[in-house]
Amino acid sequence: MSAGSAPGLPLVPRSILVVGGGAREHALAWRLHADPGVERILEAPGNAGHGDVAQVFPDVDADENAALVALARQEGVDLVVVGPEAPLVSGLADRMRAAGIPTFGPCAAAAALEGSKALCRRIATRAGVPMAAGAVFDALAPALAYAASLDGPVAVKADGLAAGKGVTICGTLEDAETALRDVLERRVFGDAGRRVIVERVLEGREASVIAICDTTTALALPAARDHKRILAGDRGPNTGGMGAYSPVPDLDDAAVAQVVADFHVPTLAALAARGRPFRGALYAGLMLTDEGPRLLEYNVRFGDPEAQAILPRVAVPLAPLLLAAATDRLAEAAAALGIDGVLVPARPEATVAVVLAAEGYPGTPATGDAIEGIDAARAAGALVFEAGTACRDGRRVTAGGRVLTVVGRGRDVPDAAARAHAAADLVRFRGRQVRGDIGLPVAERAP
Ligand SMILES: Nc1ncnc2c1ncn2[C@@H]1O[C@H](COP(=O)(O)OP(=O)(O)O)[C@@H](O)[C@H]1O
Ligand SMILES: [Mg+2]
Repeated sequence: MSAGSAPGLPLVPRSILVVGGGAREHALAWRLHADPGVERILEAPGNAGHGDVAQVFPDVDADENAALVALARQEGVDLVVVGPEAPLVSGLADRMRAAGIPTFGPCAAAAALEGSKALCRRIATRAGVPMAAGAVFDALAPALAYAASLDGPVAVKADGLAAGKGVTICGTLEDAETALRDVLERRVFGDAGRRVIVERVLEGREASVIAICDTTTALALPAARDHKRILAGDRGPNTGGMGAYSPVPDLDDAAVAQVVADFHVPTLAALAARGRPFRGALYAGLMLTDEGPRLLEYNVRFGDPEAQAILPRVAVPLAPLLLAAATDRLAEAAAALGIDGVLVPARPEATVAVVLAAEGYPGTPATGDAIEGIDAARAAGALVFEAGTACRDGRRVTAGGRVLTVVGRGRDVPDAAARAHAAADLVRFRGRQVRGDIGLPVAERAP
């Protein structure tokens, strides 16, 4: 291992492999590449548009665990940072660690926290984490009886990974029956629907708190709020995420610190006690109710587009923190970096991340359309992180559903939103879809 260190400071990984190729991974590569002592970022498969900060390996896909381990070995990387959940659920981190390569991202046993909502409820219950009343079922009749007993709207959730489409909010018992039959009988989510979770619907606004974790310590990144629906005003079908902003005015620093104490820390302990040691980004999806925050779900990696909003706000070197988390030295590293308490120090400036999506998304996206104005958006002071883009004859063209993320930075969320939307307007391609209301107060949003 060639990781370097100055006396008294934590180890800095000189070379880092980022697994993935979306805008989240571009933001990770961009942030890590700026850290003192980091010499090289590799990205697999990466994206032709990430060459500004990373050396990309397009022939190694994010689901080819053996090839990723071979690449990490051959290139002698000091740290692997895994972006998406699928490789984690399928055991990439286990294989990397078995090869002696420090990896930021949980083992498969801990990644199951995201891979199975039933496991998530079990662990959260044992950890004493506050969440909605709910239960897990594998047959229709008891699930329906339970839904009826909740006497109000229910959330019906497929147990396994369903690409963000496995949850249905049901206002009536008939809706709940349809949703339950879809999951359990019609198997519209395949094996992800062998079991189903029925939960009471919570009222409030959502927010996300992502913490950098080793098996015992959690350090929270600034809170963010994302927008999943395709259309302004939170209407239309769900997507992977159309935008996010940070900070979240209704979740201040003290509240974030309380979330770490009430959610992340006991969850890490419950996982470790059950042979599921967690090292990576633990993402708590919360509903902020009148009775306080309640857990909706855990994810086991950075959110996309939350990462694009959060990472530009991180005010301390990120690479040594991720390496320390990967090697169970997070508390030490935090102390060495002068971090007091459970919050990663953040820049005061706010960020708003706006996703530009292709025509047809979230259905089948159009591809091959020329993209103009990325340089102009950057010249205007925005950050542009590329996802569904490709290079054709030296020009950028669309190549996926979520094409890129434009991030504006400003003194507060409304100021950052104005900058983000102005810069996003400069980036043009045929059929482009963008939500004009990301980061705007609810009352000012387009109807
Ligand atoms: N108990 C609940 N009450 C209200 N809304 C919920 C509840 N559970 C889920 N939701 C809504 O459904 C969305 C998706 O649910 P989540 O558990 O985050 O699953 P996933 O992100 O895997 O689809 C949440 O972001 C939230 O808007
Ligand atoms: Mg979610």
